[in-house]
Amino acid sequence: MDIKTRKDLTGLKTDLLFVTKFETSKTLEKSDLLGKTVQDRIDKAISIYGFAGKKKEVLLIEGTDQIKRILIGGLGLKKDFGAETVRLAAHEAVNQANALKVSHLTLMVPGPNRFLKAAVEGVRLAAYHFEGLHQKKDKDQAPTLKSVVCLTREPKAKTVLHEVNTILNGVDLAKNLVNLPANVVTPGYLEKTAEAMAEGRKNVSLNVLGLEEAEKQGMGAFAAVARGSAEPARMIALQYKGNPGSKKAYGIVGKGITFDSGGISLKPSKGMGKMKTDMAGSAAALGAFKAVSELGLKVNLIVVVAATENMPGGRAYRPGDILTASNGKTIEIVNTDAEGRLVLADALVLAQKMGADRVIDIATLTGACIVTFGNIHTALMSNSDAWAKKYMAAAANSGEKTWQLPMDTEYNELIKSDVSDMVNAVETGKAGTITAAKLLENFIEEKTEWVHLDIAGTSYLDAPRGYQSKQATGVPIRTLVELLMEEAT
Ligand code: BES
Ligand code: MN
Ligand code: ZN
Repeated sequence: MDIKTRKDLTGLKTDLLFVTKFETSKTLEKSDLLGKTVQDRIDKAISIYGFAGKKKEVLLIEGTDQIKRILIGGLGLKKDFGAETVRLAAHEAVNQANALKVSHLTLMVPGPNRFLKAAVEGVRLAAYHFEGLHQKKDKDQAPTLKSVVCLTREPKAKTVLHEVNTILNGVDLAKNLVNLPANVVTPGYLEKTAEAMAEGRKNVSLNVLGLEEAEKQGMGAFAAVARGSAEPARMIALQYKGNPGSKKAYGIVGKGITFDSGGISLKPSKGMGKMKTDMAGSAAALGAFKAVSELGLKVNLIVVVAATENMPGGRAYRPGDILTASNGKTIEIVNTDAEGRLVLADALVLAQKMGADRVIDIATLTGACIVTFGNIHTALMSNSDAWAKKYMAAAANSGEKTWQLPMDTEYNELIKSDVSDMVNAVETGKAGTITAAKLLENFIEEKTEWVHLDIAGTSYLDAPRGYQSKQATGVPIRTLVELLMEEAT
């Protein structure tokens, strides 16, 4: 999608102009972006057809010589207006443009910059389409919209446009990684993706461990999961030095289970195919890394992706096994389907060894998270109120809904083991999402500020919702980049 910005309509030819109106006002907001002729035409149509401006309400009218058609969209009440309204409106405009089979769309965008940002996000989120792997592309299905012009007077519009495009390129990358099947997106494929991000960049370095090297480094939890699969596992570490003067580094750690069969504690076959998405945390980590490094943010960032399948092969780990992770702690296996926390344990230790002191891990970790939040909220758990608060503030700006769960010490009782430092699964299922985070906390050093995000529900949608298309969502990349942009200033 080609997106440009422009100060007014002078000399512009377009198939469709999209303007918006609040529910309370009688006319369009007065703006000199449109010019008198177009503005009058819209105001006349609004009064003739009685367009109220309610949310989701649209009115299509005839345009002028240079503008074929004008689409008026309702914004709802002014008191509810915010970036989220703009994202939804821009998304709706793109959908309508495709429904009308036009190729060029012009959007009137309100100031300030955060609304321009939201509008471009809405456009890019609506423009994503996973083509699948059909032999022949279906031409009728393909969206017709090729280019979008944003009408705005913001002085830094070009910078904002560049930023959003860079971030959404990271989001699209993550969506593709999640949507593609597990026979394509293997741990080796994730490694190649990381390689492409490091290639030709002086301030990016890449380190990859195979199963044997991981075992040698004492990563007994990761290795145990990896051994059950014939597909070679990879512990992938990317490092970006955007602030070489500083010793501090942010860490993003992703669960990269490219397929989760459950292992010996095999999952039921119904819906098992969806477990190709069990690497969504690592896809988000890689997408965020791509955006942050391409934006050249003044931060140091370490991304660790623990990539393996969870399979019931002949060398698979078993219920009853006791594993030793790379920080020396031991874990009794109760259920081999609680594999995500195991690979994350060693990945978290590695990220901290590499120097990360403010860490965020992202994982499709528990079905219990979906029981609690459906597909609406990402669950956040943390050992640091300050770091959690910063993350929540960034999430409020990005619109990626997040809700914090408690981490009281009482929950530690639930993961106690008679024979080791902890169990990997609580058989009663009590506090499933929190107890998973409690296990991870055992691999966080005292001085590390840590946020854990369970995206089991929010990383993938069976049906579109709002400005999110169905399938992979790319959550929580926009929040992560928002947070690091904030930290960099
Ligand atoms: N990858 C799953 C969690 C999951 C389930 C993600 C559904 C997305 C949709 C994870 O590895 C898992 O199997 N968790 C178990 C843990 C249990 C055995 C303690 C679960 O939630 O059932
Ligand atoms: Mn599992
Ligand atoms: Zn899993």
